[in-house]
Amino acid sequence: MKIGIDKIGFYTPHLYVDMNDLAKARDVDPAKFTIGIGQEKMAIAPLTQDAVTLAANAALEIIDESDRQAIDFVIFGTETGVDHSKAAGVYVHHLLDLQPQTRTVEVKQACFGATAGIQMAKAHIALHPNSKVLVLASDIARYGLRTGGEATQGAGAVAIVMSKNPKIMAIEEPSAYLTEDVMDFWRPVYSEYAQVDGKLSNEMYLSFFEKIWEAYQQKTGLGIGDFSAICYHLPYTKMGLKALRMIYDQGTEVDKERLLENLEHSKIYNKNVGNIYTGSLYLSFLSLIEHQNNLRAGDRIGLFSYGSGAVGEFFAGILQPGYQEHLHAEQHQKLLSSRTEVSVEEYERIFAATLPKDGTAYQLDDQNDPAKIKLSGVSEHKRHYVNSLAVKM
Ligand code: COA
Repeated sequence: MKIGIDKIGFYTPHLYVDMNDLAKARDVDPAKFTIGIGQEKMAIAPLTQDAVTLAANAALEIIDESDRQAIDFVIFGTETGVDHSKAAGVYVHHLLDLQPQTRTVEVKQACFGATAGIQMAKAHIALHPNSKVLVLASDIARYGLRTGGEATQGAGAVAIVMSKNPKIMAIEEPSAYLTEDVMDFWRPVYSEYAQVDGKLSNEMYLSFFEKIWEAYQQKTGLGIGDFSAICYHLPYTKMGLKALRMIYDQGTEVDKERLLENLEHSKIYNKNVGNIYTGSLYLSFLSLIEHQNNLRAGDRIGLFSYGSGAVGEFFAGILQPGYQEHLHAEQHQKLLSSRTEVSVEEYERIFAATLPKDGTAYQLDDQNDPAKIKLSGVSEHKRHYVNSLAVKM
């Protein structure tokens, strides 16, 4: 039985800052951010958007009534969730009006969470072939103003419906994975901001890729020539090139050119959004299939997932006949092109704004946020969400 990605959607907030402006404000050569790091625009989440609303908005564009009835498992991958106890997916389950006989959990392992979700979904569907699983990958990357990681922030979510006989990509069974206890990136429970050893995180990412790629090849007998494209977790888009460079000489010149060309397509959304942590790999996959029109049904796409701390995995999928008809490229172009650019001063002001932490009631002004699902306020330590299309919470 084929199991895999039946639908895939994406959402990012309506605000961004231009990386050239950020570089100038930080007294850095803009080419460092746009070429050295490979980012053009950085999405900024207003207070009316959090990991819950981003995920719900991403899912809203793809699910229909039959999905609402068939989804019986919601897996929410995030490292910027809104509650230490309640799963963010429970809010999304309500906001999307999913049927109640559903299992809902939150999964955390830095940027790896959604990949765990995909694999759990696959196992669930293998046991229950008529089930569908909603996998959500949603994060707001915050390192802090004027920090080394500032240029690699971002905000957004990817929503994936997993099912049997998937319309977009069937995920193959073999997979190679690795865990090592490393302090390259973490966020203590008391901290708003991630702690990171940037250089170590780059090194660990590449070392994981090298080891896992080797293990994957041994397990499967597949080599670089068997892949039409490889998508990478992209904390910033240059990272993908660093990883691909490690292996592209293993194939022919034609293989190398193909993989390099497809890497360019797989970076377009990411360089305009920034790091969305656990959703970044899947945003890159979406960018590839919505921009590269010479891919064909039967093509194998590799996916490398890395979550600092650290867990990594390499697996692959096969594009399905007619997958192009189930994409929303125009909608995504519009989502990105209709955003509002903010100045660095405005970005700093938005970044500094926080919700009360003492239970004080606080009503947010959500008039300027065009999203369908928004955070409308907090009271008694409870978040209140609004879905302008339907349910009010
Ligand atoms: N023109 C073009 N490129 C330039 C440049 C210029 N004027 N100035 C610098 N660069 C290049 C550097 O050569 C380097 O390229 P390389 O990595 O291919 O060697 C790149 O820009 C980044 O420069 P560097 O000095 O390493 O940047 P940094 O010290 O600011 O750190 C990160 C960059 C990514 C480590 C930092 O932003 C960070 O910690 N981010 C969060 C963690 C993260 O994303 N980790 C990724 C793995 S999970």
